[in-house]
Amino acid sequence: MFAKQSLENTKVRGQTVLVRVDYNVPIKDGEITDDLRIRETIPTLELLEKKGARRIILISHLGRPKGEKKPELSLKIVFDRLKELLPDRKVFFVSDVSGPDVEEAVEKLPVGGILLLENLRFFPGEEENSTEFAREIAESTHADVFVQDGFAVVHRAHASTSAITSEVPSVAGPLLEKEITALTKVAKAPVHPFIVIIGGAKVADKQPLIERFLKIADKIIVGGKIAADISDGKLTEEEKKIFADNADKIYIANDFVSDESGAKLDIGSESTQKILEMLDGAKTVLWNGALGYVENPEYAKSSTEVAEYLGKNPQVYSVICGGDTTGFVENLQKKDESLKYGLISTGGGASLELLTGEALPGYESLDDK
Ligand code: 3PG
Repeated sequence: MFAKQSLENTKVRGQTVLVRVDYNVPIKDGEITDDLRIRETIPTLELLEKKGARRIILISHLGRPKGEKKPELSLKIVFDRLKELLPDRKVFFVSDVSGPDVEEAVEKLPVGGILLLENLRFFPGEEENSTEFAREIAESTHADVFVQDGFAVVHRAHASTSAITSEVPSVAGPLLEKEITALTKVAKAPVHPFIVIIGGAKVADKQPLIERFLKIADKIIVGGKIAADISDGKLTEEEKKIFADNADKIYIANDFVSDESGAKLDIGSESTQKILEMLDGAKTVLWNGALGYVENPEYAKSSTEVAEYLGKNPQVYSVICGGDTTGFVENLQKKDESLKYGLISTGGGASLELLTGEALPGYESLDDK
């Protein structure tokens, strides 16, 4: 099923390996609020060490600085977290992506050392998918092989996901392989009964997902603000038609927990109960979008109950995607380590694009098997 060369099957002993990761993590008041994307690269770094890579150079973007150097979007904060996660490894940071400072840092790197470069998007060449920019990175780092492991960014055709693959032999990293394999299985060959849970804020954002999975899933469950908007009659005519035409396949939550102003901020206990009954017996569940306003614990009850049900029933292969949902589920897991899921995806837009059948240029451009 996986059509690309993978790091697992590539010799990297004694080589300099350039790895594209996605360290685009949420930051609030100077603190990383969710480090899933950093932690998920640790197995890749361990594999590279085991395979005897001489040097590991990590490249990533952070935020959308649009070609300008914005100190608040420096990857230095990620470097500090990475060092904490890898206390026994030699980890370094250089505040550029090519040129003499990078060359010097690469040359000084001890055997097995890891060097994180600065935010790629400080330079216009990144988003312009510039060959010259990609070549400068490849040359300054003396890369022998390129590993694409930033699943969350492979829906972008940028220099570090596309142009770079023409400069250096390019293979898939284990995180990319894991996510693509799991999400493709759900999108193309799920074990039935297969239930899709859709939450979040806007029908328009989820419409492609709903339309796609109407053909594949046994049931689609809709909660979150989308269900509240349906109940308040706030949908466009086209959106209304999708739900009306597929009433037998779609269950829409219909009781709510509201604040004093009447805003429906979580789905109610009756709908939650109904959802748990529908999940009973499911073999595959895809969940995208929280069922309530989970930032406030008062409105996180339905999402908590669903997450706990899935996490405690390992016979259900559950795939969790979408930033609000994955962050929420991970926080629950931190409190209760017994909760287990098939995949908590690091990809927001990338997972949606894969699930809805869009091309992923950062994956397509890798070397074929
Ligand atoms: C993401 O967070 O979805 C990826 O890192 C891609 O970021 P972008 O939407 O700014 O390209």
